[in-house]
Amino acid sequence: MITGKPFLTVEQIQRRVKELAAQISEDYEGKELLAVGILKGAFMFLSDMAKLIQVPMNVDFLVASSYIKTHTTGEVVIHADIREDVKNKHVILFEDIVDTGLTLQYLKEVVLSKKPASVKICTFLNKKAHRQVHMDLDYVGFDIPDEFVVGYGLDYDNRFRNLPYIAIFKEDSVDNIKG
Ligand code: IMP
Ligand code: MG
Repeated sequence: MITGKPFLTVEQIQRRVKELAAQISEDYEGKELLAVGILKGAFMFLSDMAKLIQVPMNVDFLVASSYIKTHTTGEVVIHADIREDVKNKHVILFEDIVDTGLTLQYLKEVVLSKKPASVKICTFLNKKAHRQVHMDLDYVGFDIPDEFVVGYGLDYDNRFRNLPYIAIFKEDSVDNIKG
């Protein structure tokens, strides 16, 4: 049983995913893509996107973390790196949310050091309020205000990732959202 008021509904999410996938399919026409999902948060977003992207593509993942509960530690840890050969590939990094920008700044550098043909960033959510570094975000699902959100892959303390929509998380709502 899943409860909690959606901030972004399943319908809104699916509509935007379709638009983003169409845009990527157009931009990468004639090219082959290496889609890299940043786990765990991007698993749902990338699986929805992958079904709709119309160019040949490979999928890989990178496992990274920087957050404990609702606070960034500022230090990105890579638990598992990309296993595909990145050299000369057109890479898109799929992320759940960009907040301070520190995670993606670091991960983009890691990917660039592997000499890809190109690297772009596709983030489901963009929370600009606490941005600490400038990041060029090539594809953005939704700009959101300064709230901690859960669902559609995003977690609070590893919970709520399985909600099919995005909800605003408040400490006292833990018992009201069952994910
Ligand atoms: P950044 O390094 O501050 O940009 O943080 C990016 C990472 O922090 C994301 O990949 C998420 O894992 C996590 N994060 C930031 N904001 C939220 C949020 O509102 N809900 C859930 N996770 C978040
Ligand atoms: Mg994440």
